[in-house]
Amino acid sequence: MTDKYAVIGHPIAHSKSPQIHKMFAEQTGQDISYEAIEAPLDGFAAKIDELRKKGYRGCNVTVPFKEHAFQLRSIGRAVSHSEDVDNAKAANTLKFLDGVIEVDNTDGVGLVRDLEQNLGVNLTGKRLLLMGAGGAASGVLLPLRRALRHADANITITNRTVDRARHLARGTNVSICSYEELAGKSFDIVINATSAGLSNEMPPLPLGIFAPGALAYDMMYGRETPFMKFAREHGAAVVSDGLGMLVEQAAESFYIWRGVHPDTAPVIAALRQP
Ligand code: ATR
Repeated sequence: MTDKYAVIGHPIAHSKSPQIHKMFAEQTGQDISYEAIEAPLDGFAAKIDELRKKGYRGCNVTVPFKEHAFQLRSIGRAVSHSEDVDNAKAANTLKFLDGVIEVDNTDGVGLVRDLEQNLGVNLTGKRLLLMGAGGAASGVLLPLRRALRHADANITITNRTVDRARHLARGTNVSICSYEELAGKSFDIVINATSAGLSNEMPPLPLGIFAPGALAYDMMYGRETPFMKFAREHGAAVVSDGLGMLVEQAAESFYIWRGVHPDTAPVIAALRQP
């Protein structure tokens, strides 16, 4: 029997996840269906209850419901949380088991895999700047710290509202600073986890932020953001969007559900076709 999965968001029409999981299923011979479902803004938990009743085996969760997925426990649903979920206070992957929902967040693992495996970056010993302190940044901080072997001194978080960066970094030895305080500093990896690109804006980075050979990574995909353009023009050796991260987080969700690792390279290549 076909096992049913879905991605829940609002809006959801433009999600690439159904296409990605269809390719994974074909490639691995897994008998699954995967559809995009829009839940009302105040109806996330009810939608999850409905899907479970209908026999779905799990779902992905996207904007604006990732924090709602984290809060399922506090509204009385039986859940088990991964370490990444408790750290990020947001979730993107739910697995429906008998009596309990396994709640996970694969965004950070997806980012690290894209950096290490697809872009060939060795994160050990690298100086890394993470821009942003909202949901996107908090979802990836712990997996990035793990990938840098908890060399927190090598990680800096910058944010317009510095207090949010301070909050995100609490309990770690990660540095925080304002954009102004970045003047004179340079990094091997600069990751844009802000939503600035959505409104075609550019975080106020100083010139000289990219060390020789630096990688500039934008977690957005679909078009070149002002940050990517700035990076190309101001010394980054490699500039990447977040399409690889999207496919890698999907692959990790697929693994959580099915126990099989799909091959991501052909899927990324297919999505890059014009
Ligand atoms: P998300 O879940 O996508 O991270 P969010 O929680 O609204 O969304 O956070 C958006 C992030 O992008 C924040 O870090 C925000 O900075 P502030 O906390 O100071 O608001 C950052 N951001 C948005 N527009 C930006 C811009 N034009 N320049 C710099 N940072 C920006």
